[in-house]
Amino acid sequence: MKILVIGGGGREHALVWKIAQSPLVTKIYCAPGNPGTAALAENLPIGVEQLDKLLAFAYENKIDLTVVGPEQPLSLGIVDLFESHDLKVFGPSQKAAFIEGSKAFSKDLMKKYNVPTAAYGVFTDQAEAEAFINRTGAPIVVKADGLAAGKGVIIAQTCDEAISAVRDMLSGNAFGSAGSRVVIEEFLTGEEASFLVITDGKNVIPLASAQDHKAVFDGDLGPNTGGMGAYSPAPVVTSAIHDMAMEMVIRPTVDGMAAEGRAYRGVLYAGLMVKDGQVKTLEFNARFGDPECQPLLMRMKSDIVPILLAVADGDLSKSEIEWHDKAAVCVVMASEGYPGEYRKGDVISGLDQAAQREDVYVFHAGTAEKDGACVTNGGRVLGVTALGSTVKEAITAAYSGVSQISWPGVQYRSDIGKKALERE
Ligand code: AMP
Ligand code: GLY
Repeated sequence: MKILVIGGGGREHALVWKIAQSPLVTKIYCAPGNPGTAALAENLPIGVEQLDKLLAFAYENKIDLTVVGPEQPLSLGIVDLFESHDLKVFGPSQKAAFIEGSKAFSKDLMKKYNVPTAAYGVFTDQAEAEAFINRTGAPIVVKADGLAAGKGVIIAQTCDEAISAVRDMLSGNAFGSAGSRVVIEEFLTGEEASFLVITDGKNVIPLASAQDHKAVFDGDLGPNTGGMGAYSPAPVVTSAIHDMAMEMVIRPTVDGMAAEGRAYRGVLYAGLMVKDGQVKTLEFNARFGDPECQPLLMRMKSDIVPILLAVADGDLSKSEIEWHDKAAVCVVMASEGYPGEYRKGDVISGLDQAAQREDVYVFHAGTAEKDGACVTNGGRVLGVTALGSTVKEAITAAYSGVSQISWPGVQYRSDIGKKALERE
């Protein structure tokens, strides 16, 4: 089989790495990929939003399955486009990906199908938003309705801060058209978990539990990022919480999407807040999380390709996913300044030494090849991922991999996985 993976981040390197282990696969392409995927696949100089070029490539090269990593092409309708040309593709349709593409839609869906979530309002009018903020009080959360590369969420500590965040969004200054509508919601406390499932629109297979680390600095301080590290399994997801998430969040959402004429096929990612034995849903994503995908796929024992194919064919009823008992931890190494303006072009040293380790795999994200060297080329640069018999062992292995790699201005959190240890 020939497989095309769309995307060029750490998540897509992990997907390529896992797909490359399948005996069913003869050739992998990755568009656009990165220097990490180049070792396992043929990278194509096509961007994730160039749907016509991606379609032409898949059609002419008789690609057997296309796997879509990021949200942008899903929201642009890549799945509908490929399917209309009889090409198999893993991911939700444009109508289904709307669950991530519009936070107002996803909140209204949750309300309609009784999925527990924070109390909220949806606004396009500044005065109405201000009245809601003043009535609710701070802290309060302001979210741009549309896609904003993980940056469209402001946790405001005061009403004034929330009001000015709304003004920035509604005026179009902050996130362009993605901010022309805002969701304002109650601030929730608790511990977050990433709860991912694979579904064909009817049958649902939960993936192993995971936890992301969104804030840039240790102790969950500083601004939110795309994710500075992740681990799996996440002990905050006890078997009771798992059952609750399946029954109260995932099942009604999958059924609700089908009832709305938006049958959901692909990975459905629920961001959960867990507190006092209860779950509330923070958001849905229409794809694998990045970096959650890296530890999850390292732990996946089953061949992923038959599972992806079964979803593309619309029948997961006979599929199962087996997991390694081991834990996995991914530590993201990022460029100086990230998540703000960051430097690019610094030479990364130590990759060859880290590659010799058996327990560690270094997934590339924002890297590039320059004059024979691997250089930084993005905010999140690498995801150093390790397996261990326990989360503790996986943490030790991941950080010893991290310690071998460096470049000027490198930053990473030193507490990835710590919350799991506190629960052990
Ligand atoms: P979202 O993109 O909606 O998941 O938001 C990104 C991050 O913002 C989440 O992972 C949380 O850390 C935080 N967040 C979002 N909504 C809330 C909320 N209602 N209360 C507290 N934190 C939130
Ligand atoms: N790691 C969070 C996300 O992928 O949205």
